[in-house]
Amino acid sequence: MERPDLHARVAASRSQRSAGAARRVRREVLRRDGARCEVSDGHGGSRSLLNFCSNDYLGLSQHFAVVNALQDAAARDGAGGVASHLVCGHHAVHGALERELADWLQVPRTLLFGSGFSANLAVMQALLEDDDVCVQDRLNHASLIDGARLAGCRLRRYPHADVEGALRQLRGAPEGAAMLATDGVFSMDGDVAPLRELAIAARVQQALLYVDDAHGVGVLGPEGRGSVAAAGLDVAAVPLRLATLGKALGGCGAVVAGDADLVDHLAETARPYLYTTALPPAQAAAMLAAVRLARREHWRRERLRELVQRFRASATRHGLQLLASETPIQPVLCGDNARAVAMAEALEDAGYWVAAIRPPTVPEGQARLRVAFSAIHEPAQAEALSDALALARDRADVAASRYA
Ligand SMILES: Cc1ncc(COP(=O)(O)O)c(C=O)c1O
Repeated sequence: MERPDLHARVAASRSQRSAGAARRVRREVLRRDGARCEVSDGHGGSRSLLNFCSNDYLGLSQHFAVVNALQDAAARDGAGGVASHLVCGHHAVHGALERELADWLQVPRTLLFGSGFSANLAVMQALLEDDDVCVQDRLNHASLIDGARLAGCRLRRYPHADVEGALRQLRGAPEGAAMLATDGVFSMDGDVAPLRELAIAARVQQALLYVDDAHGVGVLGPEGRGSVAAAGLDVAAVPLRLATLGKALGGCGAVVAGDADLVDHLAETARPYLYTTALPPAQAAAMLAAVRLARREHWRRERLRELVQRFRASATRHGLQLLASETPIQPVLCGDNARAVAMAEALEDAGYWVAAIRPPTVPEGQARLRVAFSAIHEPAQAEALSDALALARDRADVAASRYA
């Protein structure tokens, strides 16, 4: 019997993506200056674009206090983490950051990871076993899905934000331990999970509620403590949650925050924690500065609210198809892949950078432009973007009618 040829499989997959306007290309950023980016055109030239696709929601990634903290710590401690936390990579600044994050998020314990993706793998792999069940929202982030697969447990998904659906799945799997996992803010839709209702469902079904708050922390709730705090829930209702450092906090890495016993268990048993190099201490120092800014500079969240209001009002006047989101993630639905790509190109010609998001990241037929706001945008820029989006849509309509 002949084995399948991996090169042939890759070539077939690539041509299928090309036919469906689903090829993915990376763009090189030559320079970042606040919300403006100089982006390579791939032919030796470049374009200056106003960036509406970063997750730097609070605008902290270039804040002088954050960058200074990084530079000072790198000068003192070097560029790398040098070993895993349990060997000799655990620096005092990692501990200080974990304590600051625990204080901010009002939980007994936090544990630092190199990325949110690996933190999600760690939580599921360390807690769930073959006979257990993990019940998840259909639109959860890929790392939650992969985490459940890695754990080897049963994975059951429920329709988006459908608490009854979650309950049904939990009731249908009464044996084994259960985890109910959801994004706090859905990364491609921008809406917030029905956390209070999910907490009740989890309690009734004796399931552990895990909230991936990658896009909520820094943005929602009192002091920016995230979607869990905004819903008025504490560590008893949500024993574990994920906060990422690579989005609103402007750096990289993540923490799992919550119940002390559970978090301590991760620190001793989670393979994606044990067998990887610690986050560089300089990055932890930068994130300590970023957390302090995120906690006290409320104007950044107020600015985001204003940007979202202005954008939604203007986009609605233009008849653009928005989703029900009050967060800085404001997707504009485009329909098919080719239309989303055409609109993104038209926007780029007008000086705006907005990412076209296509399946499999979103469901088939729901390609979209994922607009993301940052506190460093000006309110007038939100309105100008919606004007440009309307023009891009009209241009895509004309092009489509030509080929009809
Ligand atoms: C909901 C969600 N969870 C987890 C992650 C992964 O976080 P990180 O980028 O830190 O790996 C992301 C972002 O990519 C995300 O959107």
